[in-house]
Amino acid sequence: MPAFDVQQFRQQFAFFQQQPDWVYLDNAATMHKPQAVIDAVTQFYQRHNSNVHRGAHQLSQQATMLFEQARTSVAAYVNAAHSDEIIFTSGATAALNQIAFGLMHTVLKPGDRILLTQLEHHANIVPWQLHCQRHGVIIDVVPLTPQHTVDLVAYQKLLALKPKVVSFSHISNVLGHIQPVAQMVAQAKAAGAITMIDGAQGAVYQQPDVQQLDCDFYVFSGHKLYGPTGIGVLYGKTQWLEQLTPVFAGGEMIDTVSFVNTTFNKLPFRLEAGTPNIAGAIGLSAAISWLQKYNTEQIQQHKSLLLKEFYSGLQAIKAIDILSMPVHNAGIVALNVAGEHPADVAELLNQQQVAVRSGQHCAMPLFSYLAQQGAVRCSFAAYNTLDDVNRCLLALEQAVEILTA
Ligand SMILES: Cc1ncc(COP(=O)(O)O)c(C=O)c1O
Repeated sequence: MPAFDVQQFRQQFAFFQQQPDWVYLDNAATMHKPQAVIDAVTQFYQRHNSNVHRGAHQLSQQATMLFEQARTSVAAYVNAAHSDEIIFTSGATAALNQIAFGLMHTVLKPGDRILLTQLEHHANIVPWQLHCQRHGVIIDVVPLTPQHTVDLVAYQKLLALKPKVVSFSHISNVLGHIQPVAQMVAQAKAAGAITMIDGAQGAVYQQPDVQQLDCDFYVFSGHKLYGPTGIGVLYGKTQWLEQLTPVFAGGEMIDTVSFVNTTFNKLPFRLEAGTPNIAGAIGLSAAISWLQKYNTEQIQQHKSLLLKEFYSGLQAIKAIDILSMPVHNAGIVALNVAGEHPADVAELLNQQQVAVRSGQHCAMPLFSYLAQQGAVRCSFAAYNTLDDVNRCLLALEQAVEILTA
């Protein structure tokens, strides 16, 4: 197989032709979209626009076919046993809320425990917390090691408390650390827990194999996988999807309705009330087909090279504190300039057209734990180049000079 050609990959993003001066290192927030995705969405609206599952006409049947093909392509991407195990949502947040709300009372009862880790995104904390407060469910939190990875010894000890649900991220959105998810799922299952993986950052780094992982739920957002915003995926094993009470109710998710009683549709429709994001699902499917033309290992190697160069350049800049480890890192580096506010650093980078994010990255409990007010986050994608790395390093060097002058 020919080597990964970053220029060829990058050329497929109109954004970089329109905005050649920008260095975009905010990929953990959202990624740019290749032309294949933009075309798929545009073509849907230009040629097939119709509602799904309900029209008597051919256009609606075509739209339904495209939408259901998208479900099949997502199912294949994550290796689900059946496409009915794929629920389209508006994003990872919506999927996590559906799981947390949906398990309450059917599976989770007062006094039950849920196990999370210290580095979770708010989307994998707050939905659980709302229920815990209302329904008397208890949250336990796995602490981190001094290297800021999940403490697996503490994890095993907390599993002994017999949590009903264990929910953790595949990759930390702040630190970039890749969690040993297969091991964590296996340990959680041995302790009798239902397992939920937040793959918002993971699904793009590595094609998740949910059957091999044997997790009960896996969620992600389309926009962090080169797809459109407003579309996300809730994968669940049929047995556990059946246990979810729908968060949203209305059209499509019902079988029969009267003012006395409602009976529900079968999966996946029972958990997809209302008109879905049809174009979004089609766009996500286009993103997956497009991405699969490339070799994941080669992309990972390319990102590792970028990281290596970035870390070695950072060593040469004074006063930089790096919070992320270089090993088992998916391409996200959280850092600070000692004594400076991360927003000031990010603003100086912005002035040099280097796009990064600063703040607590929807992970306030992690920053309390790290005793940091926040961090600058540089997150790399496959379309980033060594030139991007060097421009970011230069911009950081200048920012440090200005701030410490
Ligand atoms: C690890 C993680 N989980 C959940 C989310 C929420 O994703 P979304 O805002 O697309 O719903 C994000 C977004 O940054 C994330 O990084």
